[in-house]
Amino acid sequence: MEQGYSRIKHKDLKDRVVSAEVAASWIQDGMTLGLSGFTRAGDVKALPYALVERAKGEPTFKVDVFTGASLGSDVDKIFAEAGILRKRLPFQADPTMRKKMNEGEFHFVDQHLSHTSEMLRANTMEQIDVAVIESVGITEDGQIIPTTSVGNSLIFAENAKEIIVEINLAQTEQLKGVHDLYSPEKQGDRQPIPLTKPEDSIGTEGILVNLDKIKGIIFTNQSDSPSNIVPPDEETKVMANHLIDFLKSEVEQGRLTKSLAPLQSGIGSVANAVFHGLLESDFENLKVYSEVLQDAVFDLIDAGKVDFASCCSITLSEPKMNEVFGNFERYKNQLILRPQEISNHPEIIRRLGLISINTALEMDLYGNVNSTHVRGTHMMNGIGGSGDFARNARLAIFVTKSIAKDGDISSIVPFVSHVDHTEHDVDVLVTEQGYADLRGLAPRQRVELIINNCAHPMYREQLMDYYQSALEKGGHTPHDLEKAFSWHSQYENEGTMRQLVKV
Ligand code: COA
Repeated sequence: MEQGYSRIKHKDLKDRVVSAEVAASWIQDGMTLGLSGFTRAGDVKALPYALVERAKGEPTFKVDVFTGASLGSDVDKIFAEAGILRKRLPFQADPTMRKKMNEGEFHFVDQHLSHTSEMLRANTMEQIDVAVIESVGITEDGQIIPTTSVGNSLIFAENAKEIIVEINLAQTEQLKGVHDLYSPEKQGDRQPIPLTKPEDSIGTEGILVNLDKIKGIIFTNQSDSPSNIVPPDEETKVMANHLIDFLKSEVEQGRLTKSLAPLQSGIGSVANAVFHGLLESDFENLKVYSEVLQDAVFDLIDAGKVDFASCCSITLSEPKMNEVFGNFERYKNQLILRPQEISNHPEIIRRLGLISINTALEMDLYGNVNSTHVRGTHMMNGIGGSGDFARNARLAIFVTKSIAKDGDISSIVPFVSHVDHTEHDVDVLVTEQGYADLRGLAPRQRVELIINNCAHPMYREQLMDYYQSALEKGGHTPHDLEKAFSWHSQYENEGTMRQLVKV
């Protein structure tokens, strides 16, 4: 407890310490909550549990929960199980929540991660009643210092009527000084965001708000949930090598140098494996401008390959978490944590000319990408930041394994069953089979390249058959609309996309 008070440097705030139960009693039915947390990092860990307990006696109690992205500490799971959600946005990755959302138990708004702040600022959706922000401590001048993510915490604090701060003693105080909090003006009154290099610092080290809004401070002492990525396997290593071959050929053709361009990579094991592959490459003096930093970025820093990394959250496996946060001084000068609207801002992504690598569920013959909806209907996680990056990057690269579910699903299909990234925003597709560089190619030039370089051999003939039947119908982007989704409906009815379809 004493250690907790020593982290509240502003003297007027020390008497605002309360229990999580008292803070939860302030939340009213129907409120909109803005919780810190981005991909399991920097989420609030005490209030959500107290809220679920408190709601047990009130069967109709429901709230809207807005966050940065997915939460750790099983918070999304307990919210979904307790049935207290009315609306959730902008991203989640919890299996229980996914199931309930797909059953229609609550509304989920799948939003580009850079958009939530703009919508709050423009008052085009519910405003935040209570922001709950995890912090390493509050400074003498009242700045709330975030922890392992910034996510949407700044806009939530600015927008909220009241703020509850969770000071987490398990988060190292060495995190102070690594954040860069910058909030653009309203659209229409805005100057250019003065960030021209990943390492530029343009804001304050903490969240500065009217201190009267800080209604309570809770102490917690619990680490972030570790990430559940698996180390690179043979298939993801092969994929990483294809991608590296592509980048090497860009260097050979003089389009990139050996330090490439600032890199963004999505979440998950494939993205981590791709970054891991850079360890063995000739690339050097790399910079990262991404949302989430996973284990591989720290390996690249250790190996002297990455000079600087900017992000909005740090999500690590348990051993890496101990290594990095147990020795944070070593990394601190090479890192910046920013709000997600800045890490994902179109203006900056375009200015820096990012190389952006994200994961797809399925891709089609013309390069459209589905990252979110299984069979076009069932939400997986959400679009996350992939759209922010793909639309604006110098190079929008999508990776996926060519088959799923032991080969019963082809990740290359005639027509994606849901479009997150249109053919206009997708530059390069990569699977373990190879890569297809779609830049400058018309629809009919793309098809054979994608089939031959990216589709699994067991599906190539079937895809060509579909294309032949589509060609008979003609058009700039030929399709046989009656057959376009037959692969998906056959999987639904027969459990496989293979062969049964006579095209
Ligand atoms: N149809 C149906 N299911 C498919 C599929 C397809 N075409 N392709 C993959 N799957 C299934 C897999 O079988 C696996 O199922 P399981 O959980 O039952 O094992 C699941 O989808 C996840 O696939 P996996 O290959 O393990 O990939 P992943 O963990 O890397 O996740 C996404 C892939 C697309 C779900 C994930 O990257 C995502 O949510 N992306 C969108 C957000 C984003 O890109 N953010 C980036 C900015 S940080």
